[in-house]
Amino acid sequence: MKDLNHLQKEAQNAIQFTKTQHELNEVKALYLGKKSALNQIMATMKDLSIEDRKALGQEINQFKVQIEEWVAGQRDKLVERAIQSQLQAEAIDVTLPGKAITQGKLHILTRTQQEIEDIFVGMGYRVVEGPEVELDLYNFEMLNLPVGHPAREMQDSFYINPETLLRTHTSPVQVRTLLENKNEPIKIICPGKVYRRDDDDATHSHQFSQIEGLVVGPHITMSDLKGTLSTLSKKLFGPNREIRFRPSFFPFTEPSVEVDVSCFKCGGKGCNLCKQTGWIEILGAGMVHPNVLRMAGYDSDHLRGFAFGMGIERITLLKYGIDDIRHFYQNDIRFLKQL
Ligand code: PHE
Repeated sequence: MKDLNHLQKEAQNAIQFTKTQHELNEVKALYLGKKSALNQIMATMKDLSIEDRKALGQEINQFKVQIEEWVAGQRDKLVERAIQSQLQAEAIDVTLPGKAITQGKLHILTRTQQEIEDIFVGMGYRVVEGPEVELDLYNFEMLNLPVGHPAREMQDSFYINPETLLRTHTSPVQVRTLLENKNEPIKIICPGKVYRRDDDDATHSHQFSQIEGLVVGPHITMSDLKGTLSTLSKKLFGPNREIRFRPSFFPFTEPSVEVDVSCFKCGGKGCNLCKQTGWIEILGAGMVHPNVLRMAGYDSDHLRGFAFGMGIERITLLKYGIDDIRHFYQNDIRFLKQL
């Protein structure tokens, strides 16, 4: 029969080499359980004298306490080891790149509109809007285009009834703003959709968008108009752009001009974009016709104004070298992604 000292050493060894809680439980049973060597020793107690029995009983107790202590210590170690290895196995590398989230953006026409708005807001303009369903009165008559005026044919229209139509340009917002401001100075731009009964092709659409400008005050001259549009084209098309005025006709401006910007592709030498002329037409403009001021209640002897109107699509087509206006409306993601 093994003595307790020997057993204790053996148990210590066995306990510290266990790798799992299950193994540890088995080792514990081996040294303290019913079939253990300890139990065999305890079975011999009944044959001992009272004193020997007492002494052996003490030894056995100490043995038990010691083994329990080692088992508890080893259990703590095993638990700690299990936690560590789980932590390692489940570790997350926070430096790995994440899943890319695709993000949309504003439509190119909206961005051109906002770019132009920003330029004018920087020059002290207010941005105002008007309705797309408009009175013939504001769209034509009060712009010096009476019923039967031949120039109405330049803008064939969608009529809703004889007095109401889808506006053919943003110029009726001029009239609305004049009526609201009652002979006071004005400095506004108005962006928005307009409608014409055109057949759609590469350069025409039955619906497109414009930005109108109107400035009214006591000393407004044609050179203010030129300076303003020169600033606009330099900011939109690059610092070296020049502009030029060509005589034109609009019933609501006098004199009227078409405004060209020096070609931003060839710098004015002549290329396919400017059709070898060095110039590209970007908008229509002029000094507000005194009849327009008068009809809206303005004192046309003391106040003058200039006005201009540009197509947002046309400017965007030119700026980005796009060949067909219909691309803007078809929502083909392959087109939109390029801009
Ligand atoms: N309304 C004109 C058009 O659509 C443009 C324009 C606006 C011309 C203001 C002169 C002054 O063609």
